[in-house]
Amino acid sequence: MTASISHDPSPDATSPAAPATYYERHIFFCLNQRGNAEASCAALGAQHAFDRCKAQVKAAGLAGPGKVRVNKAGCLDRCAGGPVAVVYPEAVWYSYVDASDIDEIVESHLKNGQVVKRLLTPPHLGR
Ligand code: FES
Repeated sequence: MTASISHDPSPDATSPAAPATYYERHIFFCLNQRGNAEASCAALGAQHAFDRCKAQVKAAGLAGPGKVRVNKAGCLDRCAGGPVAVVYPEAVWYSYVDASDIDEIVESHLKNGQVVKRLLTPPHLGR
């Protein structure tokens, strides 16, 4: 016996208001650690920032379907701006320094949809 799973993305008029996307926003943190002397986000406190963001998102009640997902990522190829995180669907890149920067990203962008301009990764910075 085989199970049938529908992949029809159209909304079901009989279901409660389904979110347009499964998560409203994703924030990806580069946690890349290099084994050589090259700079990497992990060497600049990325794990602490990721942990802080996850905790703050949860504490603010923002975590879960229809809301925010905080994800780990490997190298995002913008190492020169590191440590970096990127928020989708807006594709906004942040270069953060400390926990207060993370708190501001959570409160302003993830909660209220307002980009934190002072933390934007300069557009020319790549690898
Ligand atoms: S090591 Fe973080 S973007 Fe490359």
